[in-house]
Amino acid sequence: MAASASPSESRPKPLATRSENAVAAAADRGVTVVIPTFNEAANIPELLSRISASVPPGQETSVLFVDDSTDDTPEVIEKEAVRLPLKVSVHHRAEPAGGLGGAVMEGIALSGSRWIVVMDADLQHPPALLPELIAKGEEAEAELVVASRYAGGGDHSGLGTRYRVLVSGVSTSVTKALFPRALRDVTDPMSGYFAIRRDLVGRAQGTGAVRPLGYKILLELIVRGRPRSVAEVAYNFGVRHAGESKSTVREGVRFLRHLLRLRSSGTPTRALAFGAIGLSGFLPNLAVLWALTHRTGLHYTAAEVIANQVGLLWNFVLIERLLYRGHKHMGPRTRLLSFVALANADLVARIPLMMLFVSGFGLTPIPATALAMALVFTLRFLCVDRFLYR
Ligand code: GDD
Ligand code: MN
Repeated sequence: MAASASPSESRPKPLATRSENAVAAAADRGVTVVIPTFNEAANIPELLSRISASVPPGQETSVLFVDDSTDDTPEVIEKEAVRLPLKVSVHHRAEPAGGLGGAVMEGIALSGSRWIVVMDADLQHPPALLPELIAKGEEAEAELVVASRYAGGGDHSGLGTRYRVLVSGVSTSVTKALFPRALRDVTDPMSGYFAIRRDLVGRAQGTGAVRPLGYKILLELIVRGRPRSVAEVAYNFGVRHAGESKSTVREGVRFLRHLLRLRSSGTPTRALAFGAIGLSGFLPNLAVLWALTHRTGLHYTAAEVIANQVGLLWNFVLIERLLYRGHKHMGPRTRLLSFVALANADLVARIPLMMLFVSGFGLTPIPATALAMALVFTLRFLCVDRFLYR
């Protein structure tokens, strides 16, 4: 369902048509506050009052709720919206795709403004900070302004239990260690409260890879979009106004998967994994070689040809399962045949290359072999990585 402050306004559509682009351009100077909600009815009146009170005069601000609730949150928003001087709309999703992160990305896609502020509905993110986030972004010409619990002057006591404080601190440190460059200027990469310029979102999406997974949408946007400059505003993460937190242990596990996916998306990491899987193929290869020579009396050269293909099959299954799970764009038969062809070409190409290095460049056999292997491996990896999968 969709509701809006005035009944004549229709719900925002996911993709602006050409005629609507003019409207979006007009809203260019404005700010859209995107708020994901899941059963937050009791927080809405206070939240909207406080947002309304903190918007500076002349600042064109609209509030867009992206709602996955099963309670009456959308109705409460609708009812509250009419008494406020703000443009408030609700986009209720029939399918809560991507959870919190998915909701945020959908809200950003629906908004037309140059700045987007993302905040929670439970008042743990103080609305009074809204003008400061934008002012700081303009002043510092930053693409991203993060409201931080960990910057000087910030506070995270509202997290509640000591356990959650610990988990939050440890996961923040681990995350920063995993992405030292991308997160150099960010003390709170897990923050759910930030102002972001549309350009940066566009750049992150340009990598074709913003696939929100749960809570940590900011981390995803930073790692994918690589903001040119980031500013921070310290704040006190308050206690929840009403209702209860939706973050669960399952959300924590999701976060670990998210980290793994973000980290393993770099080419060097994939090359390393590809190499490790390739090495693991020696095991089935040797086992089959042993079985064939000992049990069937097949000549060892013929046995090795067969054993090698078994090793390749093993490698193929592993890279399909572990490395390129969501990246298939060709049929399975084409993938298998190309993979096997590439791997056999690799074997065949090594010898002449080695010979070239020895007789052409005067290398001794060991470095020549190593060089040939490395070269052929790199070429094979790049072919698989760039052409066979996406
Ligand atoms: N649409 C939608 N769909 N909204 C959701 C969903 C969902 O599946 N799950 C949670 N939300 C909304 C909640 O209604 C709330 O407005 C906001 O997302 C945050 O949820 P909380 O349950 O209050 O999360 P938290 O307080 O534990 O953690 C928050 O604050 C941290 C510090 O800034 C989150 O924003 C974390 O990402 C953040 O690290
Ligand atoms: Mn909360």
